[in-house]
Amino acid sequence: LSQHFVKKDGDVIIWMRLRLVASFASWLGNIMELDRSLLSRKIEVIALRIETRRTGEYLFKLRDHLLNLPRVRNAVNCGEKKLILLSQRYTDVSQIIEENGWLSEKLESTEMSSEKYTINLDYNHFTADEALKELLPTEVSIPSSFEQAGHLIHLNLRPEHEPYKKIIGQVILDKIKSCRTVVNKIGEINNEFRTFPLEILAGENNTYVILREHDCSFGFDYSKVYWNSRLSSEHARIVDLMNNLKKHNEHMLVADATCGAGPFAIPLAKNYVQVLANDLNPAAVDAIQYNGQKNKCLQFLSVHGPSCARHFLREQIDSKYTHVIFNLPATGLDLLDAFRGLKFSSNLPPLVFCYCFAPKDNKEGTLIPELQFRLQRALGLSSSDDTPHSATTHPLPPDSHRQATQFATDGFLAIRWIRNVSPNKDMFCLTFRVPSACATLEPILLEERPSPPAKRPRKSNNEEEAK
Ligand SMILES: C[S@@+](CC[C@H](N)C(=O)[O-])C[C@H]1O[C@@H](n2cnc3c(N)ncnc32)[C@H](O)[C@@H]1O
Repeated sequence: LSQHFVKKDGDVIIWMRLRLVASFASWLGNIMELDRSLLSRKIEVIALRIETRRTGEYLFKLRDHLLNLPRVRNAVNCGEKKLILLSQRYTDVSQIIEENGWLSEKLESTEMSSEKYTINLDYNHFTADEALKELLPTEVSIPSSFEQAGHLIHLNLRPEHEPYKKIIGQVILDKIKSCRTVVNKIGEINNEFRTFPLEILAGENNTYVILREHDCSFGFDYSKVYWNSRLSSEHARIVDLMNNLKKHNEHMLVADATCGAGPFAIPLAKNYVQVLANDLNPAAVDAIQYNGQKNKCLQFLSVHGPSCARHFLREQIDSKYTHVIFNLPATGLDLLDAFRGLKFSSNLPPLVFCYCFAPKDNKEGTLIPELQFRLQRALGLSSSDDTPHSATTHPLPPDSHRQATQFATDGFLAIRWIRNVSPNKDMFCLTFRVPSACATLEPILLEERPSPPAKRPRKSNNEEEAK
């Protein structure tokens, strides 16, 4: 440390200062506790004293002028009478009379009178957002989105939240009834299993989650096995698509090369589709085996691994699989080189659903050529008739399932936009049938590491690595 300072290198000193500020913020974040009493307060509103039997009529006629606070009734008992509580924007009854002619008539009669009414608000009256707005300094943004997996809520807090992280975690735990644990991502995804370091902010120290998706139950350790609830509609799309294809395919064998806890494989196997499932992560392999058992579909599920997708795809005896799901968007495209020199037992090579990340398309429209280029490069194909040579982009027509497979059957490539991953990055699904020209190529050596992602000149993007 002193060496750095002796050097008097400006950058190093700034870096050290930032580190000190960050560690102080982190220390603060660990000691600052939620004080619920900070949200106890009295508010005074205008109330109309009316006959109890007229309550419905008043609530209806004054519906745009009522207090409408969470967990506070707009009409409260007061002896034999009722009090109708008006919005906090009124400090005097004359203000509402200007807006509501019906009320002015009533005031002139003896049927109603107005008065001040005091409400005691506490922490329970606030939603998570409202409570955080009150508790965090105004210059700190309110964490707006989170992901939930079973009882666990996962936040991606920013450095500005560091001093308040325990408070944020506790408020979310208190306000979201189905939540028992709140975690925060504390580092980027930096391992092959696509998991990330996390810290428990509030609640039980338990990252083993049990959740339901597509009518199946999944159990796994969230800290060890990848899961992304934002992909649930994509999981459902592929499962529905494959279930439909099964109606027309007598022999259907799906290879899920990067299965995780089984969001594709388990619902397929439960629908009597034969599935081979593999993952590199031993914890994912254990999880899918357990989930197969739990969902009573082991008869249709054959779990392999832990092994690399390339080994898995090449080592299936006679490569009998008819469909491949390859959801490893960061690097999966490059692992498709496993298909080089691979002979398939059926006349029709498998239909592949491969996910990948790509920079958001720019106006020059380089996205499709770039994805085609990366795919061709991985498959070892230069341009030939058998190469996926044309593409369609999302949005596909409403019957996009049929459209996508039809494109691939014709030797075309269907590119479907899946989701926005970060400001500069999107996720896509490439659907194509393995071109038969691949079978004639020299097989790759399995010891080889995947070739580095192909780069075409384009603008740099410094987005964060997203899930
Ligand atoms: C993005 S996750 C997808 C998991 C699951 N299919 C889903 O949709 O939620 C990618 C998975 O691929 C696994 N994986 C990473 N590298 C792999 C490789 N070389 N071979 C096989 N699986 C791999 C990870 O462990 C992780 O479970």
